[in-house]
Amino acid sequence: MKQRNTRSLKTKHIGQYVCENCGSHSPKWMGRCHICGEWDSYTKLEGEISKRKTNPSHPVAITQIGVNREERIETTIGELDRILGGGLVPGSLVLLGGDPGMGKSTLAIDMLNRVAQSKRNVIYVTGEESPEQVKMRAKRLGIDSQRLFVLAETSLENIIEQIDKISPVIAVIDSIHTIYTEDFPSAPGSVGQIRECASRLMQYAKAHGTSMLLIGHVTKEGTIAGPKVLEHLVDTVLYFEGGKEHPYRILRAVKNRFGSTNEIGVFEMQDSGLKEVKNPSEIFLSERPVNASGSVVVPSLEGTRPILVEIQALVSPCNFGVPRRTTIGLDYNRVSLLVAILEKRAGLHVIGQDIFMNVAGGVKIEEPAIDLGISMAIVSSFLNKPIDSDTVVFGEVGLVGEVRGVSQAELRLKEAEKLGFKRCLLPRTNLERLTVETSLSLIGVDSIEKAIEALF
Ligand code: TYD
Ligand code: MG
Repeated sequence: MKQRNTRSLKTKHIGQYVCENCGSHSPKWMGRCHICGEWDSYTKLEGEISKRKTNPSHPVAITQIGVNREERIETTIGELDRILGGGLVPGSLVLLGGDPGMGKSTLAIDMLNRVAQSKRNVIYVTGEESPEQVKMRAKRLGIDSQRLFVLAETSLENIIEQIDKISPVIAVIDSIHTIYTEDFPSAPGSVGQIRECASRLMQYAKAHGTSMLLIGHVTKEGTIAGPKVLEHLVDTVLYFEGGKEHPYRILRAVKNRFGSTNEIGVFEMQDSGLKEVKNPSEIFLSERPVNASGSVVVPSLEGTRPILVEIQALVSPCNFGVPRRTTIGLDYNRVSLLVAILEKRAGLHVIGQDIFMNVAGGVKIEEPAIDLGISMAIVSSFLNKPIDSDTVVFGEVGLVGEVRGVSQAELRLKEAEKLGFKRCLLPRTNLERLTVETSLSLIGVDSIEKAIEALF
């Protein structure tokens, strides 16, 4: 009988090169990673990692698995609870990413303070700031809870030891890039360290029911550093969007094992911290110009909540060279496609024009239901004819110039009605299948030409 190679089962030799960016391995050094294309990202991993011993599991019939009532830790920040799917799940790992200065630390400490009010221990572990700096921020936010502990530490082993001592319900690690474990040979912030630290924290979280919020940095390309490694590991990924030039901060759930994704929460940065914006549609439309050409309001659905946003277009003749296209908050390729459809199917000569597009308020929208809104904003600016300010528009546009139905038309109409709009241009299929009464006057269209006819 052949002898089994027990050594390879217990240990894994990692005298290999690993890409700092995506975590892929290679037996030899390479100048450029063959997976993610990053330059000069390979570093050598030294030593051996021993595989952990785990208790063997056995298959169980699905009917035999008992589920405890799904309990959640409510943070009492309404916007945050909603995007988490009703609060933090005990033992879950949440990654919070965003550019520096967006308010990640502010939101995290505010959340901890609120949870601590209900007589539960929470801990804020900081690897970036001193306890005094944390205290200064806390003072500004009016935080004074006996049960909120602050730990300035970067060694993972010490962090876990201290967390274990006070058994908090939530632990915030600010940030995951600053902590390191001595078991792993590379520098803090490297992919290997981040992966090892995050997975050790996850094991702790699952075993003790402590929820962990890991704060991560976003790289120039807009992804959390070591993205694949962390995003696959954690249960929920939240990103702060929106530029610092706007007071509004949009927190988006891009992955959520315990709730719906693409859900957004809107906050406003004020002197006393991040405040929830409960009625984002009103805020986004508050500065809307009346009777201006190139402006159209669309009811967009972000996750489960409809939000009305204003799409603006500026179309002007291109005097020389290649026409320019700029989009802020919209997908560039989608806009180019809609311009080509307008040219070919509606006979408007817009392809040779400079076109600039913007979503007011710093929101990003990607769903196809705003296609008709984008097209109508372009047509309005091109013809220099304003769209009635009490009209909203939604619908997907296909390559043949057809207007296609979208999901959740009822929710979109309800939000428009709530904000006092009177008229809605929508896909004909949605109009035919409508199940609710509405006070809006509805115009169903099935092609982009008919939409232009109806509005201009
Ligand atoms: P911070 O939470 O430190 O951001 P991050 O952790 O994402 O880097 O927030 C820093 C910014 O927020 C900074 O530009 C100052 C501003 N801020 C306020 O405007 N008001 C406040 O009450 C606080 C605490 C911060
Ligand atoms: Mg911070």
